[in-house]
Amino acid sequence: MSGDLLLVIEDEELLREELARHFRRDGWDVLVAASVAGAVEVLESAGPAPLVVISDLALPDGNGLDLLEERRARGDVAEWVLLTGYGTVPDSVRALRLGAHDFLQKPVSLERLELVVNGAARGARAQRTLRERSDSGQRRYPPEAFLGQSVLAAETRDLLARLSRLRITTLLIEGETGTGKGLAARILHHSGLRAEGPLVEVNCAALPGELLESELFGHETGAFTGANARHRGLFEQAAGGTLFLDEIGETAPATQAKLLKAVEDRRIRRVGGEKEIEVDVQILAASNRDLRVRVDEGTFREDLYHRLSVLTVELPPLRARMEDLNELVWAAVAEFNAATPTKVKVIPDGVWRKLRAYAWPGNVRELRNVIERSVLLATGPVLSDRWLSLPSESEPLRREAARDPTAMVISLDGRTTLDGIEASILSEALERMDGNVSAAARLLGITRQTLRYRIEKHGLAERGRDEEAGADLDDDSGPA
Ligand SMILES: Nc1ncnc2c1ncn2[C@@H]1O[C@H](COP(=O)(O)OP(=O)(O)OP(=O)(O)O)[C@@H](O)[C@H]1O
Ligand SMILES: [Mg+2]
Repeated sequence: MSGDLLLVIEDEELLREELARHFRRDGWDVLVAASVAGAVEVLESAGPAPLVVISDLALPDGNGLDLLEERRARGDVAEWVLLTGYGTVPDSVRALRLGAHDFLQKPVSLERLELVVNGAARGARAQRTLRERSDSGQRRYPPEAFLGQSVLAAETRDLLARLSRLRITTLLIEGETGTGKGLAARILHHSGLRAEGPLVEVNCAALPGELLESELFGHETGAFTGANARHRGLFEQAAGGTLFLDEIGETAPATQAKLLKAVEDRRIRRVGGEKEIEVDVQILAASNRDLRVRVDEGTFREDLYHRLSVLTVELPPLRARMEDLNELVWAAVAEFNAATPTKVKVIPDGVWRKLRAYAWPGNVRELRNVIERSVLLATGPVLSDRWLSLPSESEPLRREAARDPTAMVISLDGRTTLDGIEASILSEALERMDGNVSAAARLLGITRQTLRYRIEKHGLAERGRDEEAGADLDDDSGPA
């Protein structure tokens, strides 16, 4: 325990010195105070905080319990051992509520006090490690770690903050690949009520059915060939914390049935085991394909879906919140700058234009990869577009549009004029209708004459055939 700090608050000088001497011999660094004011001075000094405090209850300028209460309010986690004068009745309920470690009546035997102080020290040390561990998680994964200045990002952040204050049994995180499902899960765990427990992640797509089951639920000796030893599953390992089931949509039907039972009854059975084991975990499930669609297809159990989706966080794709590019790009630049001697400080407009024109089907992950490559290969402070190597700018947008036959893509790359946009809409409509002007006009919701006029105006005439001329007789409004 060398180096651990013990504070002795005692107004009787003889006792104070005796205690100090005794615990110094025991290896403690001992600080002393003779009054509440003296103790406050020690406790608020810049030095390390005491691990254990021994305090007299009745002090000349106040009461040890009041001091403890004040310290607790400030988040002090030291263990307190209180000494009471002979005949005083300690306010034990209040002391208990304040988390005092123990009460000892004076006169105290040093052996007894030493036992109590050692026990308190063990408790305080465990407390301290837990706190440090969860502090570092909390520092790295507060809701603010979900970056972005768009309304969508702000809403997501708020939702994550609100959810992390709730007792969650199950929650579903949905979003395309790279939208931050893993990040959201870490935020929910580390900012949540179970931050001090473990966070156990499992990718359900990475393991075939039976293996996944024995991973999740554990197995007993001889449950299957090769199962030589009893194995605690991830449910048990996550006890008191969070189990993050990534890509839950990929689980086999048999596993889904077991998951449902685990989620509903909070009980599991090891593979090859008889007895049911109670598990206390918060379950976060993630899916990058619409689980609802899988339910409709019949590949995902509807009851499990309903059970999981009581609370849902939907992460928006990056292309729906392009305002976030700025913050995300600079955050990634700062991160990857740390790994190179050449620090990127400037991102030219041309690069921004390319980044904005791209649809980012791989979302934030893809963006980070592109920035990482560009920063690592940079030869000076200016980020070059040489290493962006984005697939032909409008390519993914077109692919996106192809899923929706009524959609088309206009890239706003700064070169396009309004006239140019009109021309591209007309030619796209003509192209899709095989050059049939009447059909194209119907598609655009304008008359054939209007379309004819505009085709001429933009010099697209040679592409439009008018074989259906006269077919729609009520098309009689004049050119616009
Ligand atoms: N809003 C955000 N702010 C900051 N970083 C983000 C954000 N969204 C995602 N990231 C980062 O992008 C990377 C990809 O995110 P993550 O792994 O969480 O995505 P995912 O949705 O789990 O993807 P997949 O479905 O492919 O597993 C991570 O490095 C993550 O930290
Ligand atoms: Mg992920």
